[in-house]
Amino acid sequence: MKKLGAAVIGTGFWGKNHTRVYGELDSTELVAVCDVNRERAKAMANQFGVKAYTSSSRMLKNEAIEVVSVCTWSTKLAKEALKALNAGKHVLVEKPMATNTKQAKKLLAVAEKNGLHLTVGFLMRFIPGLQHIREAVENKKLGELVCATAKRVSQWPERIGDVGVVKDTAIHDIDVMRYISSEDPISVYAKTGSMRHRTFEDYAQIMLTYEDGKSAFIESNWITPYKTRILTVTGSEAIMKLDYITQELWIEDAKENLQPRFPWREPLKLELQHFADCVLEKKKPVVTGVDGLKALEIAEAALRSSAKNKAIKLE
Ligand SMILES: NC(=O)c1ccc[n+]([C@@H]2O[C@H](COP(=O)([O-])OP(=O)(O)OC[C@H]3O[C@@H](n4cnc5c(N)ncnc54)[C@H](O)[C@@H]3O)[C@@H](O)[C@H]2O)c1
Repeated sequence: MKKLGAAVIGTGFWGKNHTRVYGELDSTELVAVCDVNRERAKAMANQFGVKAYTSSSRMLKNEAIEVVSVCTWSTKLAKEALKALNAGKHVLVEKPMATNTKQAKKLLAVAEKNGLHLTVGFLMRFIPGLQHIREAVENKKLGELVCATAKRVSQWPERIGDVGVVKDTAIHDIDVMRYISSEDPISVYAKTGSMRHRTFEDYAQIMLTYEDGKSAFIESNWITPYKTRILTVTGSEAIMKLDYITQELWIEDAKENLQPRFPWREPLKLELQHFADCVLEKKKPVVTGVDGLKALEIAEAALRSSAKNKAIKLE
């Protein structure tokens, strides 16, 4: 089987996992890693027996590299993803994809012009229970979709200092709402604020509304002393609840409570396997560059809504 040459830019908390998984998959072979922090790059490279770089421009000259994960600080993602696309590599860029929609649009344009895959690290879509919820919504197993509420709260991971909780954390749920409804919301209203973070918001409550009246509510913060990541989807006939951490799923209707069991799967492994399959088989990925752009547009509108204290219509 052909193995795709893979590289990772940014080998911090999350990039380490991308590095490990590229080494574990049958369809990829880790070729090199890059981090502006020399010690970090070297430590990872030594662990996996590959070459370490501190300059991505130099690393990207290596023709053995076909796919690249960009896992830098959020404000550097777009610049590094653009370099990789310009070097002819297929790219998985971590969320939030870019600091603003202008940068995200540029990535889409370059990927399209160069005929390259561009996907975004919306990891939740690879959790089996979420795929089950999406199918249930699509097949009306819950009746009509009425609303969905997401809670993604924890203490502030202090290494994140370059974006706020909306673009870092709530963006997962913004994407989830688009994914399970297969639809774009028409307006957003949000309240955000800061308790501890000096530069950015560290809590946000976001409400999305849809054309037919259904709605979604997202609570995310970096001020709760414990970590909760839960989605509840209410339909006219049943309710589904997913715990993203344990991957447990509950279904409740008027007659019974069910708890279908899915074996726990590592979402990142499923995500990178899918990315590799899409490149090898020239398939459209589950998460497209457009999905990344749309989630970022909604996140920006949420921040504008809070600043102006009014609902913002989405185009
Ligand atoms: N999809 C998910 O579930 C998920 C989970 C965690 C983090 N993330 C995303 O992954 C990214 C990294 O997060 P993290 O928690 O690993 O942060 P981190 O600070 O631990 O790691 C970032 C690393 O990138 C390096 N870096 C920064 N700019 C660089 C550049 N231009 N070139 C090379 N290296 C560079 C830093 O030295 C650091 O080692 C963020 O965008 C974050 O949103 C996604």
